[in-house]
Amino acid sequence: MNIKNRTIFENDNLFVLRGMDSESVDLIYLDPPFNSNRNYAAPIGSQAAGAAFKDTWTLSDVDNAWHGEIADREPALYQAIHTAELTHGKGMKSYLIMMAIRLLEMKRVLKKTGNIYLHCDPTASHYLKIIMDSIFGRNNFRSEITWKRATSTQKGSQHRSTRWGNNADILLYYAASRSAELRPERELTEAEIVKKFKHVDEKGQRYYNDSAHIWSSPGMGDRPNLCYEWRGFVNPHPSGWRLSKERLEEEYEKGNIVIHADGKLERRKYLKDYKGASYGNIWDDVPPPTREERTGYPTQKPIALLERIIKASSNKADVVLDPFCGCATTCVAAERLGRQWIGIDISEKAVDLVRMRLEREVGLFGTVIHRTDIPKRSEKLPNYRTHKHTLYGKQEGLCNGCQTQFPFRNMTVDHIIPRNHGGTDAIDNLQLLCGACNSTKSTGTQAELLAKLQEQGIL
Ligand SMILES: C[S@@+](CC[C@H](N)C(=O)[O-])C[C@H]1O[C@@H](n2cnc3c(N)ncnc32)[C@H](O)[C@@H]1O
Repeated sequence: MNIKNRTIFENDNLFVLRGMDSESVDLIYLDPPFNSNRNYAAPIGSQAAGAAFKDTWTLSDVDNAWHGEIADREPALYQAIHTAELTHGKGMKSYLIMMAIRLLEMKRVLKKTGNIYLHCDPTASHYLKIIMDSIFGRNNFRSEITWKRATSTQKGSQHRSTRWGNNADILLYYAASRSAELRPERELTEAEIVKKFKHVDEKGQRYYNDSAHIWSSPGMGDRPNLCYEWRGFVNPHPSGWRLSKERLEEEYEKGNIVIHADGKLERRKYLKDYKGASYGNIWDDVPPPTREERTGYPTQKPIALLERIIKASSNKADVVLDPFCGCATTCVAAERLGRQWIGIDISEKAVDLVRMRLEREVGLFGTVIHRTDIPKRSEKLPNYRTHKHTLYGKQEGLCNGCQTQFPFRNMTVDHIIPRNHGGTDAIDNLQLLCGACNSTKSTGTQAELLAKLQEQGIL
């Protein structure tokens, strides 16, 4: 890993991600702009005053080379983005290109045992899920979590709105591979404990009676290997006991099976052995940031949300990365839970907020590393930017002759003014043509090509 624990980068996350070593991170949580068509700023006078980010997207916000790179590396992903453009328009296309080029890098830096959570909302969650499927693999999709982020619905939505109040965000959870682990356990509340573990034994330990599960139920069919005599008891059903003789004896030794004086058997499930209930995928029990937590940073998320994710999806000392860290909620939660962390945010305000919050909320002084440079990977860097990538983006995947969309691999680089007419190799003299148009143009000029295509009725 080429980055130290407790580092916060003030830079565009694409450049930082490209400088990070492959498979070096255990958990990624990202809360990027949602394509909400709004611009955000923290209120003047709040701790976050000065922080702002825009969330409106046009093609001028994305580098042409990114289109080409995606079309080159992941043709299916490019097709998915193209489909979103057809159904939703160029704003969505630009947003998805911005996201996809970064998610490709996140996939690279995530360990094979790692997990990733993409926080978004219904504006783009349906498109982002396709992007995530293409990049992380549809088999690695694990959950779509709905987080109820506000108790009330949007202001004024009651009578005037044409849709239901929007008070939930979506978190798309993917694993890097099948070997990634998750522990979605939830501790029971006091009331739940008393209700579920009704009885207290002679040593004061809470348990519930699970005697119904000593014997198999008749519907389980004949299981001769589980039909045996144990301490004078014989199961009357052909489906036998629930457990093997050895396991039954083991449970008896542990005190989990009791033989009462009246000859009745009791199986006990103790609270001390209980692994916890599992969370479902509707999270309506995590309120928005508390008054004490609030920094004024627009779109700040609650620490409790991040703690739930980090606890379930990583181990102590694991590396947690938040590439859109804002006011450092993930960094604070990771620090509290004994994980290593790296935060990235383009806003200079983020660094101050990380320091301030870690001092205030974790009592950590002066240990945060602030970097504005781009890290250097220990491995060899691929060639991200080629003229062909840039041209593909500039032409939006269309051949400059017949104006038809072609996959990246079917495009050829052509000199607009042919070299035999003094044309140079500079990018402004280059264009992409499909194979057929390139052979039609041959060593002729662009005007000659267009004239031929018109003659053939193609244009
Ligand atoms: C929705 S906010 C994140 C809020 C954060 N989860 C929190 O609890 O404070 C999105 C953040 O992404 C940052 N951002 C937007 N584009 C970025 C980029 N290309 N590189 C790094 N950060 C970026 C913005 O400055 C903003 O702080």
